Amino acid sequence: MSTNFEATSLRDWLCASVNSSMVGTRVSVCGWVAKRREHGEHLAFLDLRDRSGILQAVVEGSVDVRAEYVVRVTGTVSPRPEGTVNDRLATGEIELTDCRVEVLAVADPPPFQLDDRVEIDEQVRLRYRYLDLRRENMQANLRLRAKVNATLRRAMDEQGFCEVETPLLWAPTPEGAREFVVPSRLHPGEFYVLPQSPQIAKQLLMVGGFDRYYQIARCLRDEDLRADRQFEFTQLDLEASFVTQDDVLGFVSRAVLDAAEAVTGVRPGDVPSMTWAEALDSYGTDKPDLRFGMKLVDLSTSFANTEVKAFSASSVKAMRVPGGASFTRSRLDQLTDQAKELGAKGLAWFKITSEGLDSPLARFLNEQESAAVRGADGAEVGDIIFCVADEYVAACKVLGALRVALGSPPVGEGPHHYVWVTEFPMFEGVDEDGHLMAAHHPFTMPHPEDLELIETDPLKVRSQAYDLVLNGWELGSGSVRIHRADIQSRVFSALGISDEEAENRFGFLLGAFKYGAPPHAGFAFGIDRLVAIFAGEENIREVIAYPKTQSGADLMTSAPKPISERQMRDLRIKITPKG
Ligand code: AMO
Repeated sequence: MSTNFEATSLRDWLCASVNSSMVGTRVSVCGWVAKRREHGEHLAFLDLRDRSGILQAVVEGSVDVRAEYVVRVTGTVSPRPEGTVNDRLATGEIELTDCRVEVLAVADPPPFQLDDRVEIDEQVRLRYRYLDLRRENMQANLRLRAKVNATLRRAMDEQGFCEVETPLLWAPTPEGAREFVVPSRLHPGEFYVLPQSPQIAKQLLMVGGFDRYYQIARCLRDEDLRADRQFEFTQLDLEASFVTQDDVLGFVSRAVLDAAEAVTGVRPGDVPSMTWAEALDSYGTDKPDLRFGMKLVDLSTSFANTEVKAFSASSVKAMRVPGGASFTRSRLDQLTDQAKELGAKGLAWFKITSEGLDSPLARFLNEQESAAVRGADGAEVGDIIFCVADEYVAACKVLGALRVALGSPPVGEGPHHYVWVTEFPMFEGVDEDGHLMAAHHPFTMPHPEDLELIETDPLKVRSQAYDLVLNGWELGSGSVRIHRADIQSRVFSALGISDEEAENRFGFLLGAFKYGAPPHAGFAFGIDRLVAIFAGEENIREVIAYPKTQSGADLMTSAPKPISERQMRDLRIKITPKG
């Protein structure tokens, strides 16, 4: 006989587990009173709610229970009388009768209705998060998250990875975001830094011989909050030795696809991959949303000798929007403004009509140019073609952003399209001091074919860094790491990091590498983002038990808030006036 894990000393079953096969038996359930309806003077219907769902109890006589009281009800499972069956409820065919009700705790009236069908201001939800968590949607989201975590753990264990916890009180890591610092009572004036990720700790585990490490790791970054960003978030973080990029892609794909299968019941196909250069060229971004077409096309050759000023640029990129010929003039003006905000000099548009191209610019194009526009991406009558002429990367990025604005469904909607983006550039532009900036982090291994370019043409150097993208969201990043001192010092010098600074910031890592560092590579993806997409949510707050608001506040605890004078004295901290 299977064990009933739901039974406790107080209850026999969860509410929604009670079913018609139990008719005639007496059972005890525990939960909250979701609703009370009177039927005459001496009969009340109670909807009992626990984490599994709702069960109706019919109570005779007078009982003093109100909404959200915590009760234990013992009753006889009975079929509902004809005509009162509720098809929308899993337990809609039965009810508990002949009930005994014990009040386990009384409750004040809740500040909002705990019903998913009622829209409630998010500020109120967050202020009373513990009540919000009783709602079905939050219950489902956090349980989904737990299932994803459990599946990820299993996938990593099965692939021979060892779970290791790394410190939260730590030193700066090189991820590039602003860090949260923690004052030290024992060392006044000195600070710990909360880890932006376990990056350095995990690389040191490789030196420590751990070979395959993973962790469901809390990470902290003091950066501006957005729909896909919180101060605190969770990564599935991993690192492995004696591996190549392909091995890592394999480990991660296995874990993510297992999670997708556990949640949806269907295993997605193998994850395709494209290079960063291909992603930029076709989608104008390193986070391509593959749920829809509208790929960018290149018309530079057709416009190479153009006489039209608006098109005289090193690159002309175009994008077809199916059905876009119906855009009104004001919509087109608005899109043009948007393109300008993104840095474009302008946005050219051509409606494809049965008479030809409809556009203020149409009459300036020569035969070859019109033909190129008309034929762009298999355009048909009723479509519109947008063109941006600019320097190559800028033109791609502007159209890429318009593509998302015009075509992307909400992130959690529709099919899930995963894609690996590989061969990211090693460096992305220069900082205020004229130093190159690392696109991933300074320990990323350059592409073996591009090592010679580090000193001669660094912006052309490709790296062995890769991202996993899902529906236009960056799910995670990783890279093959530099394990050789000679390559590391060439990269540091390209980044303008002096020997002294390197020693200061990462001395313990570089020191460790002198004692035999295996070749290694790793990855981390955001579990909050993955779960949000699985749950069909637009904001990761919906899959986090106690998130911060956009302005970084915890409305339930009122954090951040002042600490006592005594604590301030112990830490030897004084707040100076705003200067
Ligand atoms: P990276 O900085 O790209 O890489 O972070 C990896 C993934 O973590 C998630 N993420 C976030 N999620 C929510 N809120 C945030 N503020 C936030 N910041 C990042 C994203 C992101 O893709 N150490 C490297 C990985 C490695 O090289 O192994 C790292 O942390 O989903």
